[in-house]
Amino acid sequence: YQRDRSSLLAAHELTAKLYHHLLNNTEFGIEAKDYLRSRGLTDKLIDHFMIGYAPERWDTLTNFLSRREYDLELMERGGLLLPKNDGSGHVDRFRGRIMFPLWDREGKVIGFAGRLMGEGQPKYLNSPETILFNKSKSLYHFHHARQEIKKSGKLVLFEGYMDVIKAWDAGVRNGVATMGTSLTEEHVEIIRRAAQEVVVCYDGDKAGQAAALKTIPMLEKAGLKTSVAVLPQGLDPDDYIKDKGPEAFIREVMSQPVSPLKFRLIYSRKSHTMVEEEGRKNYVIEAVRLIAQHDSAIEREFYLKELSLEFDISLDTLKQNCHQVREQMQKNKSNGDNNAFSWNNGMNEKRR
Ligand code: CTP
Ligand code: MN
Ligand code: MN
Ligand code: MN
Ligand code: MN
Repeated sequence: YQRDRSSLLAAHELTAKLYHHLLNNTEFGIEAKDYLRSRGLTDKLIDHFMIGYAPERWDTLTNFLSRREYDLELMERGGLLLPKNDGSGHVDRFRGRIMFPLWDREGKVIGFAGRLMGEGQPKYLNSPETILFNKSKSLYHFHHARQEIKKSGKLVLFEGYMDVIKAWDAGVRNGVATMGTSLTEEHVEIIRRAAQEVVVCYDGDKAGQAAALKTIPMLEKAGLKTSVAVLPQGLDPDDYIKDKGPEAFIREVMSQPVSPLKFRLIYSRKSHTMVEEEGRKNYVIEAVRLIAQHDSAIEREFYLKELSLEFDISLDTLKQNCHQVREQMQKNKSNGDNNAFSWNNGMNEKRR
């Protein structure tokens, strides 16, 4: 097992170097280089993140590893190669893709993510689960972010590889991403051991915001102070930096994280038509329900006051309503109906 591991680690390291070399120094990489440039990646970033290119051929890596006398069966189990359909030998798993090495906490390459340059499925092809790579425990770029995470006590959680890379370039040195999965309890444990505070900075689309909504209670349950850096509708951090520049990203997004409750209010607001009276009313009702779920009386009053001012409803009325909701919550709890107003589904729940 140890022998297999070290052989695979060596193969991954060499493979990363090969792809990086093919991107930088050969004609195979020309189109890929242009693509990366068009996405705002400088040579410095390409080097730091060891980005590479796997040519559109079946045997580039297979031949490379075979010439170096690696056990190709092991390379197959390690996710670098695929068996040929007829069982006679191997082919490359990654073909015609921009290659992002994935590292473990020590900075050893343990897998890859390969992105297509154009449209097509899957957009990212990740290494499978192997003796080296376990995606539910891996956080992209953690080995480099670690230092700043320790120093500041704070970690920034992104959705994607490009977000981590572009944010790093913009000066966010404590950013990591999950690798094509949602956050797992294993991730939370790794984060908890490294940081006291997490800023969730997911994509400003439906999927990203819904993912943030799921992620927040997991982090809070682990005792991590949690906030959310909110992006405008439809933009992810990488798009934002491309459109508005790195300074704007730091100033407008990273420097203005909101509390989880505020984030829930913003999210709820988007699902109501605020130009209609009915929509506004429903939003206020839902907002009070969200606020009521908070144990801190100060936070409750703070946001009730905000509502009161914005919708010109007396604070007393809102407080009274909030109190009723809390009493109902208590009752439901003692009836064993724990989920009725839980943080998770409180928002999606239909009003009774
Ligand atoms: N992802 C994946 N496989 C896919 C799609 C997504 O593993 N087929 C993972 C990748 O880690 C990706 C992240 O989910 O970075 C977020 O997905 P998405 O927002 O769709 O991609 P972006 O990171 O924005 O990628 P890009 O900017 O290159 O389009
Ligand atoms: Mn280089
Ligand atoms: Mn996304
Ligand atoms: Mn994205
Ligand atoms: Mn993106």
